[in-house]
Amino acid sequence: MAYGLLKGKRGIISGALDENSIAWKVALKAKEEGAIFTLTNAPIAMRMGAIQELAKTCDAQLIPADATSVEDIENLYTQSMDVLGGKIDFVLHSIGMSINVRKGKSYGDLNYEWMQKGLDISAISLHKFLQVGEKLDAISEWGSVVALSYIAAQRTYSFYSDMAEAKAMLESIARSYGYRYGKAKNVRVNTISQSPTRTKAGSGIEGFDAFYEFAEKMSPLGNATADDCANYAITLFSDLTKYVTMQNLFHDGGYSSTGISEELVQMIQQQNQ
Ligand code: NAI
Repeated sequence: MAYGLLKGKRGIISGALDENSIAWKVALKAKEEGAIFTLTNAPIAMRMGAIQELAKTCDAQLIPADATSVEDIENLYTQSMDVLGGKIDFVLHSIGMSINVRKGKSYGDLNYEWMQKGLDISAISLHKFLQVGEKLDAISEWGSVVALSYIAAQRTYSFYSDMAEAKAMLESIARSYGYRYGKAKNVRVNTISQSPTRTKAGSGIEGFDAFYEFAEKMSPLGNATADDCANYAITLFSDLTKYVTMQNLFHDGGYSSTGISEELVQMIQQQNQ
């Protein structure tokens, strides 16, 4: 059911790669809720074709931008304002990649060039989105910027490797820039810390399936789906959450507040019998 929550709002949505992507679901919901927006991804992802389909469905223009390139991001804002007819009300940062994880490098044997590249793509890019937005004065008063994070920013998950550092930095940038942009233009900046979700980025993590099940059994509500994550992001873009800023918001079915669940206790008891 649509509520018209984003009626009249203009946005930029990054990170839709295929129909499993969290950003893909956000785009569909944003459309349903009455927003107009542009879609962006790394130039190489554009060539994969699926995003063209989404653009057609959403009646959205595709603007390639490497999230590590200030020039590309400048062009992204300028073109988006042009196409959409005014300043941007919401931005989704749904970008993450660790080259070390992808290439199976262990945490004790990191390639530091790859680590820096990963931090640039997954975290510093949020700063670039915000700094360029501010310099171009491209984001409207009371605009909303949301990035996606994971609980490995607070707690250690061995398989998450250097993405944990990226997420910790991402959340820190959301706080620091949230303060600055809040003072300057009432723009709010938040991160959503999402449950494990079966996407290209998610499944690239070693042992993802086992971990997905573990989180499912830990969370009283079960893992939050990508669709529900999109619903949550829409509320943060809407005027119903105007005073929420500088927060890392857990969207995880209760996982982050659970010590151990009955299901897991039972599983261990059964194993020990
Ligand atoms: P996804 O693989 O569909 O999305 C990641 C996106 O990042 C892709 O569209 C990819 O093309 C884009 N990207 C990579 N390098 C880029 C660059 N240099 N410039 C521009 N875009 C670039 O996977 P998913 O899961 O939808 O990921 C979205 C966000 O959600 C990421 O930040 C991820 O870390 C986060 N997240 C994912 C979870 C999961 O279990 N899948 C859990 C919690 C957070």
